[in-house]
Amino acid sequence: MRSTEKQMQAARYHRYGGPEVLVVEDAPEPHAEANTVRIEVGAASINPIDYLLRSGRLSDVVPLDLPAIPGRDAAGVVDEVGPGVVGTQVGDVVFGVGGISDTTAQYAVLTAWSSAPSDWSIEHAAAAGLASSTASAVIEALEVFGILEGKTVLIDGASGAVGTALSVLARDSGAEVIGTGSPRNHDYLIGLGVRPTTYGPGLAERVALLAPGGVDAAVHTAPSSLPADLITLVGDPARVVTVLDAEGAERLGARKIDARNESQLLERASKLGRRGIYLPRVDHILPFAQIADAHAVAERGSGKVVVTMR
Ligand SMILES: NC(=O)c1ccc[n+]([C@@H]2O[C@H](COP(=O)([O-])OP(=O)(O)OC[C@H]3O[C@@H](n4cnc5c(N)ncnc54)[C@H](OP(=O)(O)O)[C@@H]3O)[C@@H](O)[C@H]2O)c1
Repeated sequence: MRSTEKQMQAARYHRYGGPEVLVVEDAPEPHAEANTVRIEVGAASINPIDYLLRSGRLSDVVPLDLPAIPGRDAAGVVDEVGPGVVGTQVGDVVFGVGGISDTTAQYAVLTAWSSAPSDWSIEHAAAAGLASSTASAVIEALEVFGILEGKTVLIDGASGAVGTALSVLARDSGAEVIGTGSPRNHDYLIGLGVRPTTYGPGLAERVALLAPGGVDAAVHTAPSSLPADLITLVGDPARVVTVLDAEGAERLGARKIDARNESQLLERASKLGRRGIYLPRVDHILPFAQIADAHAVAERGSGKVVVTMR
């Protein structure tokens, strides 16, 4: 450590493992580089990728330099603006995505960001980063095929963080949306303008009842189905998008879409937030000091978890 290097508080893990490997400790402050901003983090969300990375299950494909700071997204107040950044100033409240794993700390560098709608709490803004970037990329892919306006789209996993953003973006683009979720989430889905059903066995029969004319496209965001199930239902692999199963997509001719660190994807969701149409899903808010508990709650799949830095 250089003597001039300032320290911040960060969540970190020094080895892969369960939530118990997470600690809060000093770590070097990052700084904004070209085309990035640094934020004083107000809150960071937990996405499935964060606990997959922490567990070491992805260490062959995405090896991390340990100790690693968890977190792919965050929201907060800009306090450094890197060279080349236009239109964002110190003091702006923004949400966005960092690198692969580096946001659950006092300061984080964002590589893609958008201004946070004033109606969103900092926790809502934190929950929007990776989820809305993924959803906007999926919507973009469906638009290339002209699949949205007046069409019927099935979103498997509509009640999740990605599914929520996808549902509101698809509805705003003129699609009818049938969405799956646990029964406890069906009122939530109705509130998004989605026709709800449960996921799992019998999905094709339930969807046929809701959409006798068939569905035009399906998006796979839940581990309860496989791309093959959705291809059978839609009848054309090219009209099935998965954010989960790259191997299945390649084998069957469906499309795998990933989030991209591009500000325009976040801006698309942010615009819907400003119009009062999109409120990112937040189920649990825990303080930073309880980062290990927060990961444990997220990993149980009981809803979207946000960690506050207060
Ligand atoms: N490719 C990418 O760039 C990218 C980016 C972000 C996320 N993802 C992936 O997309 C998926 C969804 O992410 P998310 O952040 O939206 O997750 P999430 O908030 O936890 O949502 C999960 C969704 O799946 C449903 N589900 C069905 N079976 C489930 C099961 N066995 N366990 C947990 N949930 C189940 C949930 O329904 P109920 O809660 O109603 O039961 C919910 O609708 C994850 O697998 C994630 O890894 C990929």
